[in-house]
Amino acid sequence: MKQIELQKVDKYYGDNHVLKGIDLSIEEGEFMTFLGPSGCGKTTTLRVIAGLEKPDGGVVVISGKEAANAKTLHFMAPGKRGLNLVFQSYALWPHMTVYDNVAFVLKVKKMPKGSIYENVMQALSMMQIEEYKDRYPSELSGGQQQRVAIARAIVSKPKVLLLDEPLSNLDAKLRLEMRSELKRLHRELKTTMIYVTHDQVEALTLSTRISVFFEGKIVQVDTPMELYMNPATLQVAKFIGNPKINLIDAHAVVSEEKVVIKSMLGEMSISKEAFEKDLPKTEEWDCVIGLRPEHISVTEEREKSNPVSVATSMLAGSETLIEVEEGGQRIMVKQLGIQKYQAGDKVYLKFLPDQINIFRKDNGKLIKKTQITCPQ
Ligand SMILES: Nc1ncnc2c1ncn2[C@@H]1O[C@H](COP(=O)(O)OP(=O)(O)O)[C@@H](O)[C@H]1O
Ligand SMILES: [Mg+2]
Repeated sequence: MKQIELQKVDKYYGDNHVLKGIDLSIEEGEFMTFLGPSGCGKTTTLRVIAGLEKPDGGVVVISGKEAANAKTLHFMAPGKRGLNLVFQSYALWPHMTVYDNVAFVLKVKKMPKGSIYENVMQALSMMQIEEYKDRYPSELSGGQQQRVAIARAIVSKPKVLLLDEPLSNLDAKLRLEMRSELKRLHRELKTTMIYVTHDQVEALTLSTRISVFFEGKIVQVDTPMELYMNPATLQVAKFIGNPKINLIDAHAVVSEEKVVIKSMLGEMSISKEAFEKDLPKTEEWDCVIGLRPEHISVTEEREKSNPVSVATSMLAGSETLIEVEEGGQRIMVKQLGIQKYQAGDKVYLKFLPDQINIFRKDNGKLIKKTQITCPQ
């Protein structure tokens, strides 16, 4: 069942058009992440869903009921939407104990005392903080405080949990720990979660699907794997992946059945069927090859490509990052293990044509996907 639907949602702050026709549908039980650079409209979209902002255009539907409609001015109050929001700054009440912080909403709802105790302890246990129930927020670490904030959000059993960069105030180690905690929480609660982050690793590891935002628009909605393997545009390709995807200028010549792609990687002949339908209409066109660093390797044996020279070679623990150069263009190769290449070494590049993406140069759109079938 569709839990949340946004139809052509627009939002302005003064003259600033911050959401530009957002269309999105989120299924019940999903872990949907909004990913994008700072200022692209993620928080605003979350606030529109929560009812903390009214859209200037479009419709918001929650659990099949219209929650906001810019045309009819219909508006459902935030408290009636069955959602709960966790912010980046957890803002616990400093004068209340952990227990009271979490119990507060249930007391407001006038839940019987016995049930309050049961529900609060269940939420605390889910976040593994029962032992801190009598402490005050100032007696807790940042990570523990954030756990309390999440316990407070889940205690009223919302249908949807909205999380806006909840881990960004934590240090790297805690962030990693909380990431797997959130994953477990989602598994146990089976609640729909909408998670905002600008951290792609967080998005790729947590989500069932990711919506990528740029400048007030959603440019792609896909599973983490699909997003990584087949970014819809050059802009998305550049944003996802670390080290960054290699983007290599190329030229295409189209014949009856084949498209021949020439670049520093050599000449590749690819069946026309492998391409999407919206190819340029001309027989020859410029394009950009996208090839992830881990999908290429360096070898001393002669391959189809021209020789390239090693520019830098950096050992990074279990892998080696080797940058090669040819005709002013550089390519990053990520290879497992310790590779003893030195600057100036002549090497060849080895890769599978199935693993390349091809983008149109003129509009940046993906026109050839990778052919890898990955388990979902
Ligand atoms: N309350 C507000 N008043 C005016 N402008 C705002 C307000 N909130 C956000 N903005 C602007 O809207 C744009 C989108 O902001 P936001 O949704 O917070 O981005 P993100 O969460 O992706 O970083 C930004 O340009 C931001 O400056
Ligand atoms: Mg934000």
